[in-house]
Amino acid sequence: MERGILRGAKTVGIVSLENDGKAISKLASEEKPIIHRHRDGTPARLNVKEGTYARRAVASYIVSKMLEFDIVPPTVLRGDADEQSLQRFIPGAKAGSEIWDEVFTSVQQSPARFSNIDDEFVKLTLFDYIIYNPDRHSANFLIEEIGDGNKKRLHAIDNDLAFAQTNVATYGLNKLNMFGKPIPEDMRAKIRAFCASAEKKVALENALSALLSPEEADACMRRIKRVGAWCEEKGTVPTKEQAAVWMTYH
Ligand SMILES: Nc1ncnc2c1ncn2[C@@H]1O[C@H](COP(=O)(O)OP(=O)(O)OP(=O)(O)O)[C@@H](O)[C@H]1O
Ligand SMILES: [Mg+2]
Repeated sequence: MERGILRGAKTVGIVSLENDGKAISKLASEEKPIIHRHRDGTPARLNVKEGTYARRAVASYIVSKMLEFDIVPPTVLRGDADEQSLQRFIPGAKAGSEIWDEVFTSVQQSPARFSNIDDEFVKLTLFDYIIYNPDRHSANFLIEEIGDGNKKRLHAIDNDLAFAQTNVATYGLNKLNMFGKPIPEDMRAKIRAFCASAEKKVALENALSALLSPEEADACMRRIKRVGAWCEEKGTVPTKEQAAVWMTYH
């Protein structure tokens, strides 16, 4: 499916939290319909209802937390009548688009200049499939320098359109060419541990069901199971020929 430009984004605010840094605030009441444009210019409404984005952002954080991916900054839902998502502001991090050339060159290099960059992008690729995020682009992840500057940490932000049955997330695969990359053992171990824990699965299912439709929550659980089985069986991101496996909603 052709990937177009997403228009009609939300109003983004920054708020200061008492004794706790800053947060990115997005009000559900200010969400606008997302119009997806094909390359020929024809508009198509994306199948994500406005008013649900804040909850999708929070659900994404919960998945990241419960799988121990820790790739989404803490994100919570606040307010009753005027619901909003609040996400911890990551100071000093740069949007991927700001340092794209530097990062992309590193991804292509062998060995990579930033020793962990491939692993970070593999994690993002897995995560975007699990949450079924159609809106990853280089301004929707942040890159933070860690250690003595030879490592990078990714933060997956703006997960507002995830979990719906839309045109699928192929950013990591197509744009970053993560096809066939090894999935690091620690990442596989985390998915394995989650899949083996009935308690964790029930907890996530309950949390997702409170934020998403029952179908969306179920489909996400099925994708985690599928990724878990894939990790055990193959241990790598699908190749181009296998990629359909990670493009199916379930
Ligand atoms: N948690 C965060 N920490 C630091 N900066 C952030 C965070 N979340 C968002 N930003 C900054 O704000 C920008 C816009 O945020 P986001 O992508 O979530 O909103 P959006 O709805 O897509 O709005 P826009 O249409 O302006 O892109 C990001 O590209 C980033 O620079
Ligand atoms: Mg954005």
